[in-house]
Amino acid sequence: MKPANRLAFIKEYYFSKKLQEIKKMQQNGIDVINLGIGSPDLPPPFDAVAQMQLAAKQENAHKYQSYRGADELREAFASFYQRKFQVKLNSETEILPLLGSKEGIMHISMAFLNEGDEVLIPNPGYPTYTSVTKLVGAKPVFYELKEERKWQPDFNELEKHDLNKVKIMWLNYPHMPTGAKAGKTVFHDAIAFAKKHDILLVNDNPYSFILNDCPESLLAYPEAKEVGLELNSVSKTFNMAGWRVGAVMGSEENIQHILKVKSNMDSGMFLPVQLGAAVALNEGEDWFKKLDLLYKNRRTKIVELAKKLNCVLEERDLVGMFVWVKIPDAYKTSEEFSEHILQTHHLFAAPGTVFGSAGEGYIRFSLCVDEATIEKAIKRVEA
Ligand SMILES: Cc1ncc(COP(=O)(O)O)c(C=O)c1O
Repeated sequence: MKPANRLAFIKEYYFSKKLQEIKKMQQNGIDVINLGIGSPDLPPPFDAVAQMQLAAKQENAHKYQSYRGADELREAFASFYQRKFQVKLNSETEILPLLGSKEGIMHISMAFLNEGDEVLIPNPGYPTYTSVTKLVGAKPVFYELKEERKWQPDFNELEKHDLNKVKIMWLNYPHMPTGAKAGKTVFHDAIAFAKKHDILLVNDNPYSFILNDCPESLLAYPEAKEVGLELNSVSKTFNMAGWRVGAVMGSEENIQHILKVKSNMDSGMFLPVQLGAAVALNEGEDWFKKLDLLYKNRRTKIVELAKKLNCVLEERDLVGMFVWVKIPDAYKTSEEFSEHILQTHHLFAAPGTVFGSAGEGYIRFSLCVDEATIEKAIKRVEA
């Protein structure tokens, strides 16, 4: 059967293909250490799992659930945003639970984009912004993030372009894959820019609590709700990526538009999963301290590994669950270097170009691997 024309503009997700190749190597007896994927390997909070199990025994647990998510989950997101970001949100009208933040990228695009609209997308950046933009018939317009600007958008440069067709601007701070934090004025400048050009600003914020001394929300800035939305999820913060729970936060009017799309696509989330996630969102400070220490230790070891591979590190804080480094001069492209370490050391790390052309010359190591495995990787390289 001939697929829809829209499929001609997108490719199978890089990791979907690459992981098949790695699986084949493993089936052939090669012990590949996968440092490519950002899927937390640690357990979720114990009490969240216990709540999920308990809720599965409730009589009403197995019915269709509300299109707007369970009250408990919306209230937990509201209280989380109040405690962590000092952002006040109405849990009835300004929060819409989602199946992870990834789902929100599609719903927001469906709700706000017409064919031919333009979308500002960070390069390098999360590939889903681009593929979803293409799937809905809109046009990606990339804004380059550069190391010399600490991976921050250059609004003066953007102002030089015709912005009449731009409808959405994706921001993603803390930024994946570079691990950059938003600079002091970025959210402020982005809001002014979005207001001036009538652009919907969306900050995708799933990494705010990983190795970050100062978590921030776009919505904490004045007038943000007028022009902006934020996505967040329990995937990285609470090691619950497979649960598929996130939310979009913003003005009642914008949330209503998204609900119009979402309520036509799914029929609610499994209640026990929502109630378990609500418990996670109420975790105390100990949870965050423990996670921070663990990732710090892993990061130290990954940095050691990267140095052993002759990669070059920038002088800055790395936020989130990745270490983003320059490949050694001896290699022409990120893919060549990634392939080299895969074939020589049986280590897989994601070439920077997976995240766009501006990722050329870089490679991304994930922190979702335990310390013993990273030590094993280091020993392989030393050998
Ligand atoms: C930048 C970015 N946004 C969104 C997601 C999706 O996360 P979620 O599990 O919340 O859908 C990811 C996952 O890797 C990501 O890196």
